[in-house]
Amino acid sequence: MDKLVSLCKRRGFIFQSSEIYGGLGSVWDYGPLGVELKKNLKDRWWRAMVHARDDIEGLDAGILMHPRVWEASGHVAGFTDPLVDCKQCKQRFRGDDPRIKGTPGQSDGQCPACGSRGTLTAPRLFNLMFKTFMGPVEEDAAVVYLRPETAQGIYVNYLNVLQASRQKIPFGIAQIGKAFRNEITPGNFIFRTREFEQMEMQFFVRPGTDVEWFEFWRHERMAWHVALGIRPERMRFHQHGPDELAHYAKAAYDIEYEFPFGWNEFEGIHDRTDFDLTRHQQASGKKLEYFDQERNERYLPYVVETSVGADRTALALLCDAYHEEQVEGETRVVLRLAPSLAPIKAAVLPLVNREGMPEMAKRIHDDLRGRLTVFFDDGGSIGRRYRRQDEAGTPFAITVDGQSVQDGTVTVRQRDTLVQDRVSADAVAAWLAERVAP
Ligand code: GAP
Repeated sequence: MDKLVSLCKRRGFIFQSSEIYGGLGSVWDYGPLGVELKKNLKDRWWRAMVHARDDIEGLDAGILMHPRVWEASGHVAGFTDPLVDCKQCKQRFRGDDPRIKGTPGQSDGQCPACGSRGTLTAPRLFNLMFKTFMGPVEEDAAVVYLRPETAQGIYVNYLNVLQASRQKIPFGIAQIGKAFRNEITPGNFIFRTREFEQMEMQFFVRPGTDVEWFEFWRHERMAWHVALGIRPERMRFHQHGPDELAHYAKAAYDIEYEFPFGWNEFEGIHDRTDFDLTRHQQASGKKLEYFDQERNERYLPYVVETSVGADRTALALLCDAYHEEQVEGETRVVLRLAPSLAPIKAAVLPLVNREGMPEMAKRIHDDLRGRLTVFFDDGGSIGRRYRRQDEAGTPFAITVDGQSVQDGTVTVRQRDTLVQDRVSADAVAAWLAERVAP
């Protein structure tokens, strides 16, 4: 992880928030390459979940919602983690932290940080939602929450979308957006943060067909991660046992990735039944039933949810792509990101800064810019320039050499195989387009 964090900073993928003030540990900022990677990832999700299907519609709901949404959803009462303090070293832990030995609050409870016994407090429930105030007066009546999941924005808009789009059940609503959780123990880089982005889809189905759709979506989502290029042997399903299920779920699977710090969830697939719509119908007094014309019956749909973190998936992609290998006696660090996800698709490099090479390379760069993300680099030896692009995950490097100026061809070096092909400069745009498409 240390090597990856350092590469992410060096190459401009991810920076610590407010670093000049000592940093805000639980928030990270995406730099020039990171923002491209995350955008490519979100675009792929949106294409697969919305554009490629005619039974899913998109939505972009506000982060701030009526506070009663969070009472109805159960988050005000139940979105809590058990919090334990060590009276000795003043550190905080989740009450279910597997490193805690014994029982917190009792004499055998042992602090995982300082090792003291009997110094841990009994677990207290701590609500993870961030609170703020709407309007100028900071009073209880003005409390609003920063949403801890995007899903609720979908539930409260489900009838609007249904009516406007003239969809029929089964159909889904997809959304990408920020979510906020006041996590007790954020950490592991961008794995657990207090501000993050979710890509969520709620699929509304007829009660009784939910189990079938749940199975469909969990396999569909795993296949999507494989298509992104994540190694299948580094992913697995984890089925939630009864004591792990969220307050809204009847069944759940996590998709886990083997991060350097162990197997951990980065996507959840949940059978949320009619829990949320029932609660919103009761709390709002607004009928949320669906009339199924074909069956001539009315019902509250069940919901199968797929919920994946954009940041955690970006971390899984970075971990999976990171390779160190020996090339000609030197260590090469390379990010083997799929071309469609790579922040820069091609670097354009004049072999040397003379004999018309920089001018020709500039022309090629200018021609490609606007169609693809490309980068012109004429600084340093060609070997060092290749290494910089390998670390950035750039799949192709176009080199303009002496022959290029003579016959109008360039070499295209492939990041993963190091194979170099000679391609006509006029054909290079089409050559690249074919290879960077998802
Ligand atoms: N709507 C359901 C829901 O929010 P979740 O399992 O709590 O379910 C879904 O979260 C996904 O959101 C997780 O698999 C993870 O990728 C991401 N996520 C949750 N909490 C996060 C955090 N503190 N930091 C980064 N990503 C987080």
